[in-house]
Amino acid sequence: MPFSTLLFEVRDAVATVTINRPDKLNALNGAVIAELGDVAARLRDERDIGGAILTGAGPKAFVAGADIGEIAAQGPVDGKARSLEGQRVFRALERCGKPVIAAVNGFALGGGCELAMACHLRVASEGARFGQPEVKLGIGPGYGGTVRLPRLVGRGRALELLLTGQLIDAQEAYRIGLVNRVVPGDRLLAESESLLRTILENGPLAVRACLEAVDAGLDIGVDEALLLEANLFGLLSGTADMREGTAAFGEKRKASFRGE
Ligand code: COA
Repeated sequence: MPFSTLLFEVRDAVATVTINRPDKLNALNGAVIAELGDVAARLRDERDIGGAILTGAGPKAFVAGADIGEIAAQGPVDGKARSLEGQRVFRALERCGKPVIAAVNGFALGGGCELAMACHLRVASEGARFGQPEVKLGIGPGYGGTVRLPRLVGRGRALELLLTGQLIDAQEAYRIGLVNRVVPGDRLLAESESLLRTILENGPLAVRACLEAVDAGLDIGVDEALLLEANLFGLLSGTADMREGTAAFGEKRKASFRGE
């Protein structure tokens, strides 16, 4: 089924997902959220996809937030349901088992900043701007902003962004650890793809294990997290990929991983 609010293209194991409502600065309405849920399932299930780049259409915005028109019309019950559904979809992206990079090409506000944070890495164009301005609308974040932002940048910096609603530029986002890299706008997709392809040269099961260990390990005790790491280390030791990777090292050649 083709998407109506997204562009979706797979080239040589890299899926590029473009949120495509540029006239509304790619705001996340219910249709976009539903289609992002389908994207998460495809990333998880399709073997010819190694990882994904998520970006926004047009020159101005990655995503300028949840669709304010829809929010304005909601009551408490459907408001909660909207939040839970967005959280579920973003979590599915975060846990799809393959690396997802946000290529942030402009405004990443509210749900847009939250979507970028649900991706594993973030590359920003020099003109990108970030913020959680929900409080200016008399509402709070609903798609994980209060949960992921403090984990990424620390409690004090997260609270400053959440409480003031002020926007920060790409360099400030880099300084506080909200983004991994800042690149010229015309290099954004190429640099994001290059970063993703560097990851995809590695053993896919090993990459998946890193994603899983960090995802679960940050929210459990140190001893449990270390045990999880040891279990994954043991599991990887039974894979053909580990045999290939260690053999390639010994034979001074590039490893050829099959994800098995
Ligand atoms: N939801 C719905 N529509 C949105 C939107 C959102 N979050 N953000 C922007 N749009 C729409 C605007 O209503 C406008 O539509 P129109 O042309 O039909 O009037 C269009 O996108 C362009 O936005 P505009 O505000 O004219 O662009 P701008 O360059 O003047 O300002 C922003 C850009 C990002 C500063 C401004 O659009 C903004 O503040 N957006 C809301 C950000 C926000 O609060 N996000 C959190 C939502 S919970």
